[in-house]
Amino acid sequence: MKRLVVFASGSGTNLQSIIDVIDRGHIDATITGLITSRKGVGALERAKVAEIKTAVIPPDSTNFASAIMEKLSDWRPDLIVLAGYTALIPGEVIQAYKNQIINIHPALLPRFGGKGFYGRKVHEAVLESGADHSGCTVHYVTEEYDRGPIIAQREVPVYADDTAETLARRVLAMEHSLYPEVIAKLISGKSAT
Ligand code: GRF
Repeated sequence: MKRLVVFASGSGTNLQSIIDVIDRGHIDATITGLITSRKGVGALERAKVAEIKTAVIPPDSTNFASAIMEKLSDWRPDLIVLAGYTALIPGEVIQAYKNQIINIHPALLPRFGGKGFYGRKVHEAVLESGADHSGCTVHYVTEEYDRGPIIAQREVPVYADDTAETLARRVLAMEHSLYPEVIAKLISGKSAT
């Protein structure tokens, strides 16, 4: 059985979708730990309910990279899954886990990605652009925000009366099906596209 470590900073609905798919037996993996960038976030509650070990490691801590490395050496992930994690992963961690760190982004990269494109801002930019579709992208993590090789994408329509909230909801629902699917394929060694 493969080992996953999840990083999250928010409500953790993507974490939950992975927990649920593992519980249903559709991903042959176990989540050995969750790292969050702050206390009090929903993802920590979800991990507690699922009896997953957790660590809170604030990005402004002086030993940020080494604290992450220490947890990862305890939890020995085959795959590191960023699920709504807002901090930049230190270069040291990316080098140590080359091609083993993936992220999900709530738009069709390479558009609407990079520094500053997070949360609501992504969906506002999509609406302002007049695009008639958006979607989500799973990609490998490199030292630049949202610029690693793309693994899989899925589209959703944008409607004329959409707001950032309605579009975000539609994209998030798509994330919840795409991310577990990609993880299942990656850990079973199948092509994820
Ligand atoms: C998702 O839209 C994800 O694409 C983005 O942050 C959001 C996280 O939501 N990176 P949640 O914490 O998984 O509910």
